[in-house]
Amino acid sequence: MKKPNRKLCPAAAGSTYTDKVIQHFQTPHNYGKMENPDGIGKVGNIICGDVMWLYIKVGKNSSKKEIVSDIKFETFGCVAAIATSSAITDMAKGKTLEAAQKIDKAGLVKELGGLPPIKLHCSVLAADALAEAIYDYYQKQKRAIPKELETKHIRISAEKKIIEEKYKDWVDIEEKIQSKRAG
Ligand code: FES
Repeated sequence: MKKPNRKLCPAAAGSTYTDKVIQHFQTPHNYGKMENPDGIGKVGNIICGDVMWLYIKVGKNSSKKEIVSDIKFETFGCVAAIATSSAITDMAKGKTLEAAQKIDKAGLVKELGGLPPIKLHCSVLAADALAEAIYDYYQKQKRAIPKELETKHIRISAEKKIIEEKYKDWVDIEEKIQSKRAG
């Protein structure tokens, strides 16, 4: 019998996870806390309240352009959130900051060969967390923030406020667990 190459998504009857999603979920790349990151992106998902931390180190390439030289993530999100986070770390590593901040939800979903429609909102976490980590880096460096990044930051901050009110108890628990984790 022919082996199916797609897995059923338990949260979305009739929809599926691609093999690539399952691989990233089962063996996530660049998972964990980073010591002394240059930028941190912490975001929440307005649909489900799940939270993600994404850390970057910034270096320079041979053309002296700033690049994402290292990247790690932690999340309390679901299968799709873990897979998209793992994938975005692969996509962003080595890219210039300008190129990395352009990675969006659509590109991420394409990279994974698709997501069940009900799980598309999970991919926003990873894309937003990366944008926020780059924003945090520019801010710490007291540098001008690119317009597109500033616009994203305003939207993400507004959503963060709603999430903190709507899911207060859950967000507090996640914060406590995350802060106890070793780097
Ligand atoms: S259900 Fe919350 S991130 Fe997927």
